[in-house]
Amino acid sequence: MDTAKLVLNIEGKEQSLDLPVITGSEKEKALDIGSLRAKTGLVALDPAFGNTASTLSAITFLDGEQGILRYRGIPIEELGAHSNFVEVAYLLINGQLPTKSQLESYRYNLTRHSMIHEDMKRFFDGYPSTAHPMAILSSMVCSLSAYYPDALDAMNTEMFDITATRILSKVRTISAYAYKKSIGQPFVYPQNHLSYCANILNMMFSVPAEPYHIDEEWVKILNLLLILHADHEQNCSTSTVRTVGSAHTNLFASISAGVCALWGPLHGGANQEVLEMLEKIRVSGDSVQKYVELAKDKNSTFRLMGFGHRVYKNFDPRATLIKGACDKLLSKKGVKDPLLDIARRLEEAALKDSYFVERKLYPNVDFYSGIIYRAMGIPTDMFTVLFALGRLPGWIAQWKEMNADKSTRIVRPRQIYTGETERHYVPMDKRG
Ligand code: SDX
Repeated sequence: MDTAKLVLNIEGKEQSLDLPVITGSEKEKALDIGSLRAKTGLVALDPAFGNTASTLSAITFLDGEQGILRYRGIPIEELGAHSNFVEVAYLLINGQLPTKSQLESYRYNLTRHSMIHEDMKRFFDGYPSTAHPMAILSSMVCSLSAYYPDALDAMNTEMFDITATRILSKVRTISAYAYKKSIGQPFVYPQNHLSYCANILNMMFSVPAEPYHIDEEWVKILNLLLILHADHEQNCSTSTVRTVGSAHTNLFASISAGVCALWGPLHGGANQEVLEMLEKIRVSGDSVQKYVELAKDKNSTFRLMGFGHRVYKNFDPRATLIKGACDKLLSKKGVKDPLLDIARRLEEAALKDSYFVERKLYPNVDFYSGIIYRAMGIPTDMFTVLFALGRLPGWIAQWKEMNADKSTRIVRPRQIYTGETERHYVPMDKRG
């Protein structure tokens, strides 16, 4: 174990201390400050944790400078080209690619746990048709726990596999039902003869009145999109799942908390914001340059949604793959989307502008994904639901890894108090 020698000189008082240095399998290094407060009385302050590693993890590696993303060591480009979402979910959660028989049994289990309790269908009666599907998703995922009391004990590892399978399978059904509720169409049950992604499309778009043709091109690109969203180390929603799970909270409630965090427009909600931004630019008829200038203006609240990333200071490899798939598919389908042209011009203008170049702001995973969802006929308020669907294996894998780590303790950060020093209660008749 390496150590770092620190010499602190605070208010003339000098102290030297040795702190362990942790080195990861990709040679990343961290100063282990677990003993800092005990040795010095100091805590470290890093509000958005931009300089703080919250955990060791063996699931996903990303290098923001090189634009590298790997799930369990396998590059995202290879998984996108050769794998499918069910196999990637298995890889993330179990650590290895499945054998043929493991994949068949995993797929069988996911197929057979896709229905939700009939009583849960009545929950939808209480939502207005205008309810945002992310609100429905977070509450319905948490409500699933009511039907599986044996899964409430997060430390009962025997219940993990079936609970993870139920969530991965039933969230598709809940998501599709939320969409059907919003358009006043009858719910469509999952079909056991359909693949994971084909079932999503069938439950969303088929109607009882006529047969529904499943377009294999859309199934293929939906697999790719879900793969590309499947995990991303300690992002906001994954950190939320870990924080909630660190209290030994069950997997349903931990995932429900992750859905809420992902909903934020700065996080997973950005894919919906991007389409709304592109539509606003289209309707305005103004030049994209006007919006690039607006995004740079500190007096304006406008941001180029789908641009920038806390970790990627180079191209987000997912954005590159999604943009390529988008171009290829839309031209093959003969889809001419004015918003795609605007997105391309916006990207071109921003990447030539010193404001974006200096801040290393590139398109992220959310910049082009919505264009594909829109071409598939998916409404914008369902985009983040699809992001959540894709992120499920990552959240589940990270929750499992945290609970398997014997050194895990409940997440409870410190703070530095900046409020009033001690003062005393003033009776009403003495107040000003
Ligand atoms: C996701 O963490 C993950 O891995 C997330 C994710 C995942 O897979 O889980 O990758 C998914 O959430 C992708 C990000 C989706 N969000 C958006 O597209 C929203 C728009 N982007 C941002 O608001 C912003 O870039 C963040 C939130 C993504 C990152 O924010 P940071 O790291 O806190 O950076 P910052 O806000 O401090 O910005 C640094 C500078 C600032 O300017 P200065 O103060 O230096 O002058 O860059 C500017 C910001 O104003 N800036 C932008 C901008 N993003 C950052 N200016 C204009 N448009 C933008 N989009």
